[in-house]
Amino acid sequence: MKIKTESSARKTQLLCGFIVEKYDKILGIGKIDSKTDLVISQAIKDNEGKLGRINVIPTPSKSTQRILLAGLGSKESITNDTIRFVSGKIAQKAKELKLKEFTIISPPNFVSDPVSSVTQIVEGCKMSLYKFDKFKSEKDQDSPDLTIVISKSKKILSAIKNAEITADGTIFTKSIANLPPNECTPSTLANFAKTISNSKMKCTIFSKSELKKRGFGGISAVGQGSKNEPKLIVLDYKNARNEKPIVLVGKAVTFDTGGISLKPGDKMDEMKFDKCGGCTVLGIMKAISELKLPINLVGIIPSVENMPGGESYRPGDIIKLYNGKTVEILNTDAEGRLILADALAYGEKHYSPKAIIDFATLTGACIVALGTNVAAIISNNENLTKKITNSSKRTTEEVWELPLNQDYMDMIKSDVADMKNVGIGRAAGTITAAAFLKNAVEKTPWAHVDIAGVAWTQTATKEKPYNPKGATGFGVRLILDYLQNL
Ligand code: BES
Ligand code: MG
Ligand code: ZN
Repeated sequence: MKIKTESSARKTQLLCGFIVEKYDKILGIGKIDSKTDLVISQAIKDNEGKLGRINVIPTPSKSTQRILLAGLGSKESITNDTIRFVSGKIAQKAKELKLKEFTIISPPNFVSDPVSSVTQIVEGCKMSLYKFDKFKSEKDQDSPDLTIVISKSKKILSAIKNAEITADGTIFTKSIANLPPNECTPSTLANFAKTISNSKMKCTIFSKSELKKRGFGGISAVGQGSKNEPKLIVLDYKNARNEKPIVLVGKAVTFDTGGISLKPGDKMDEMKFDKCGGCTVLGIMKAISELKLPINLVGIIPSVENMPGGESYRPGDIIKLYNGKTVEILNTDAEGRLILADALAYGEKHYSPKAIIDFATLTGACIVALGTNVAAIISNNENLTKKITNSSKRTTEEVWELPLNQDYMDMIKSDVADMKNVGIGRAAGTITAAAFLKNAVEKTPWAHVDIAGVAWTQTATKEKPYNPKGATGFGVRLILDYLQNL
């Protein structure tokens, strides 16, 4: 999908304009000819400006084959997400009509500021036209090209470029996260990381034997049950001189059977999405290097397959993490915290970062607590939480903070080791998992984002055109916004 801008509408197969409740015109479209105007005014009455409602009308005009009206709802209720959501609907309509191109008139300033308008239009359209059809014999036709009608300026053009990179990063994340577990192992992820590395972004992969030798006891234990060997993937992006980096960590369990503490069969296939945290980090790293942001950023992705078998780790085992702390394993299905703890400790020790943010499909309890549209954030630093929350508001990748006090830390104490890898029964499962992670970070501002509910579309997920079935790429837009507003 190519995107360009024009200062006024040219010849197009589909001219799209927004309408707002109680405004009896299509924003940005003036008079055309008396016949067409009549049809349009009736269509406006039909549409009523209701959020997400779309009307397509053929026109007798040669330069415009059809006009599309898209309702944005009432003026007071319009947010970034409204425009992203409705733009996505428009793009899907254009594809459904098998068009080669379509034109969207950017809404006027009283609806949304132009930079944010074009950002949402581009993100909404691009993300909504992505479809995971790698394994379908019959592929979709190419996505139609988009023209945005807006008065051009440097600021607008760079916002569009930016949004294209952001959407591409999200799509990159989705397309890896959607891969089935037989086609995506830890070494596949390592190869994806290599493909995005370049002169400013170095890629290092630690193999099974190196992990063992260097004391990554969590990654080694979880990974030992699978013939698809564990990897620790490190992407080191350096584009600022002597600045301390920000470290991003992402859980990448390419398939989580639960191991010896085997999961029930129902929906076990969805555990191919247990790599989503790592995929989010890959998408962010790719986008940052394309944006050429003048920062230092490190992406660390511990990747394993959690399988039962003769060589698997077991309940009762006591292992030693990278930071030297010992863990009594009580449930091999609580594997994410083990591999993350190694990665967090490694990140803090080797990079002395300004901040560490981790993403993980860590607990089923997160879905019980917050559902499938909001992620949990748990942190040791208020300022970091605040910044991420601000980005969350702009990007509509929603997060909600959960508490983490000493009482929760006490819940993971073990009789025989420094910690155990589960809490007490099912109480506060998301927080006790975070309590475990907190033990891996000594002094760095750290935030943990549990994306178990939001990383892919589940039965209770709110339908959005820009989140078609499958992985959502949650976190990519959130953290790109955070990094660009530091
Ligand atoms: N990957 C799962 C968490 C998960 C489950 C995410 C369902 C999304 C949907 C994680 O490894 C896990 O199994 N966690 C256990 C922890 C428990 C054994 C303490 C869980 O949530 O049940
Ligand atoms: Mg598990
Ligand atoms: Zn898991």
